[in-house]
Amino acid sequence: MSKIKIHDPFFGKEEKLAINAVLESHQWASSKGNNKVSEFEKKFKSFVNSDECIAVDSGSSALLLSMSLMDVKNKEVILPSLCHVSAAHAVTLNGGKPIFVDVDPKNLCLDLDLVKKAITKKTKVIVPVHFGGMSCDLKKIQELCKNFKINLIEDAALATGSKYKNKKIGSHGDAVCFSFHPVKIMSAPKGGAITLNGKNSKKFKKILLASRNSGILNDNSVNHVGWNSYMNEFSAAICLEQLKKLNKMISIRYNTAKKYYKKINVEQKMPLDTECSYNFYWIFVKNPTTFIEKMRQNNIEIGRYHPPIHLLKYYKTNKKLKNTEIFAKSHILLPTHPNLSSENVEKIIRLTNKFS
Ligand SMILES: Cc1ncc(COP(=O)(O)O)c(C=O)c1O
Repeated sequence: MSKIKIHDPFFGKEEKLAINAVLESHQWASSKGNNKVSEFEKKFKSFVNSDECIAVDSGSSALLLSMSLMDVKNKEVILPSLCHVSAAHAVTLNGGKPIFVDVDPKNLCLDLDLVKKAITKKTKVIVPVHFGGMSCDLKKIQELCKNFKINLIEDAALATGSKYKNKKIGSHGDAVCFSFHPVKIMSAPKGGAITLNGKNSKKFKKILLASRNSGILNDNSVNHVGWNSYMNEFSAAICLEQLKKLNKMISIRYNTAKKYYKKINVEQKMPLDTECSYNFYWIFVKNPTTFIEKMRQNNIEIGRYHPPIHLLKYYKTNKKLKNTEIFAKSHILLPTHPNLSSENVEKIIRLTNKFS
């Protein structure tokens, strides 16, 4: 019996044709972001209903370049430790200080009471992570940002297509960062996007178009530091096809999550929310290592999220983040990708109930 994978891109002949067309066009990448890249930007902007959209080569680049807009040098940036380390690096590389705050154990999004306590005169940006696709309470976060004059950069790497109060993620924050890595909801070989909202959108877009091309402007002048982080044409062509299927892919993911939520008997599990696009489904088990091994023996690959950033050597301090650390010790990730058959899902549920 074939192995059930934790992540598996969903594609068909449309993606194959799209790749071939790029191959034959001989235009595989353009530092100006012409062709498929600009077509994708227009479509993604209208999909999320943001003011602007800039395609980049990864979620990490999206975070790094967004952070470069916010003048964080010698300032503080509040973010969860439960994230990809690139979010912290985006702060550090821009000369700022990451301040890690614990998460709410129910949805693993930033605990907003703790965020409020962590705000100081130096706080410049808050980076909520929509963990697993579950949106943070953006209304409350936007209120905090407004009251304390703080910028909002959302990390939506795991939340393409998710919604908050019926509005797509990507249409709220000053900058919202997406990832289209193959393990994400919308898959490309590698890719990412930044959507922009609010009064600075046009200005920020102009800066970012240069930033993603090593700071080079159309007339070849360079006024600020940037990096080679534009999206290539193959990724854009695949993203355009994936975007057409996104609602279908999310609805399959949601139906799988619903089965897990209803049928898996564990005390702590990811909540069910029709607005979540479920990049994966997390649950707590007694012993993740044993559980993963037993599932592996049954041809099922189980995931684990990245280790909490505040426990990594480079970022380690004495700070304790209780809920983050409990999650790190106890969780496992179940697959939700659209290639799972109903039999696969039933098998995962049956064995999870047996081994958890
Ligand atoms: C929350 C979060 N942000 C950012 C990233 C980085 O995205 P990328 O791998 O496209 O650089 C990841 C990747 O796992 C992630 O989980």
